[in-house]
Amino acid sequence: MSQKQVHIFDTTLRDGEQVPGCKLNTKEKVELALALEELGVDIIEAGFPISSPGDFESVTELSKILKKVSVCGLTRAVEKDIEVAAQALHYAKRPRIHTGIGTSEYHIKGKFNSTEDEILQRAIQCVKWAKNFVDDVEFYAEDAGRTRNEYLARVIEAVIKAGATVVNIPDTTGYCLPYQYGDKIAYLVNNVPNIDKAIISCHCHNDLGLATANSIAGVISGARQIECTINGLGERAGNTSLEEVVMVMKQHKDLGYHTNVNSKLLNPLSRLVSETMRMPVQPNKAIVGSNAFSHSSGIHQDGFLKSAITYEIIDPEEVGADTSKIVLTARSGRSALAHRFQKIGYQFTRNDIDVLYDKFLKVADSKKEVDNNDLVKLAEAHVSVVA
Ligand code: KIV
Ligand code: ZN
Repeated sequence: MSQKQVHIFDTTLRDGEQVPGCKLNTKEKVELALALEELGVDIIEAGFPISSPGDFESVTELSKILKKVSVCGLTRAVEKDIEVAAQALHYAKRPRIHTGIGTSEYHIKGKFNSTEDEILQRAIQCVKWAKNFVDDVEFYAEDAGRTRNEYLARVIEAVIKAGATVVNIPDTTGYCLPYQYGDKIAYLVNNVPNIDKAIISCHCHNDLGLATANSIAGVISGARQIECTINGLGERAGNTSLEEVVMVMKQHKDLGYHTNVNSKLLNPLSRLVSETMRMPVQPNKAIVGSNAFSHSSGIHQDGFLKSAITYEIIDPEEVGADTSKIVLTARSGRSALAHRFQKIGYQFTRNDIDVLYDKFLKVADSKKEVDNNDLVKLAEAHVSVVA
């Protein structure tokens, strides 16, 4: 099967940076952007230039230094925003303006006190303004997840006619179920006559924990760009996590998609983002959490030690993680105990392990995790009794 490329649009430095406490200065943005470029993302959303002088400066600097990726600046459907973004992107080798407006009833009535027809005209207008400055214009239909498909299709057809090269269909509130989001993308593929002139992009938020599933559903229905962040950072419950979508496509080769991302850099970059943005990664986070390759229950440990594939679908090396860990808790079994003793230089017989296991369980019941110091004490006490 020939592989279809899915573009990775990283918005760690824009949507991710909107998280309270995660604000980045220009130096930090430069460091992360260079690491994202090395990772192999295709587009970096560098910031929202009109939002502050600091962000304008960051987008300008990134435009100067990034050579391989497209550099993108966010705007509202406001002429001044677009002019300022164009200035900030002036030095970029591949500049992209990301402009758009809310298209759901909640936004049209609740935010703009407007009508569908007026919003349609504003959508067309903002793309035309952006086209005066750059060739590559991405249009976002904010809250597309809750926008009527018929109206969304009208807007998307019109903005492509106005010159949009990428059409972003955000599930801004993380409301959609995967089949609904997939159906929405399929609806656009089947009902927008000029859809072949643009790339469809997924931008899914994680309010119901469905951002990764929704993005993949979008790709299966025909989207060819995913907007995502390292560690899933972003507004509220966050955005689609980059490492997750990349590894879903890598693990499920049968789907026929590939990205340019070098997966071996995922864990080091996750740590760099976490440290720079002062935002810890939850231990059970897929791909990059500290427990993502730890085994602690006896049944799992026994299977894993016999053959890793029984309980691990990804080789940690493939995602740049430390080797798999056998963690000793009160739920661990004899094979895990023997394995850990062996790792610190004690080769015990089956009978020894039977004796040691009872003692180990007493320690394990009194602690969350049994460490090497505990093991040395158990081993030395055992050796002195046997000797
Ligand atoms: O979530 C959203 O709709 C956005 C847009 C600005 C693209 O972040
Ligand atoms: Zn967003």
